[in-house]
Amino acid sequence: MLYSDKVMDHFLNPRNLGTIDDADGVGEVGNAKCGDIMKIYLKIDNDIITDVKFNTFGCGSAIASSSMATEMIKGKPVDEALKLTNKAVTEALDGLPPHKIHCSVLAEEAVQAAIADYRTRNGLPTDDIPSCN
Ligand code: FES
Ligand code: FES
Repeated sequence: MLYSDKVMDHFLNPRNLGTIDDADGVGEVGNAKCGDIMKIYLKIDNDIITDVKFNTFGCGSAIASSSMATEMIKGKPVDEALKLTNKAVTEALDGLPPHKIHCSVLAEEAVQAAIADYRTRNGLPTDDIPSCN
């Protein structure tokens, strides 16, 4: 079996799919390798991520990764969401095929880009954000 049950579940029933019109931070990243795009929207209250939605123009692994990533950061402090790695997302999905690991990187980078946008809008430092600076 190429894809785990969890990947199939998050691909077929993505969590937190959509957009947030009055988002406090929006991150958009593209994958140079395949041209796919991922967008993450955050609502942030008192540095807690109270809501998150995503939109992905990408493959099934990208959809499953972003769905899982949104579940992993919802309700978490921003600082903790910044620590989300593509490795953690992949593990939570019970793995991805080796040639699909890049797709989960998109989720990690989109979360960081959305937090960077939130920080920039609020005049907060972004130097601790690994990517998307
Ligand atoms: Fe493009 Fe997976 S192949 S994100
Ligand atoms: Fe498309 Fe890795 S090849 S994301």
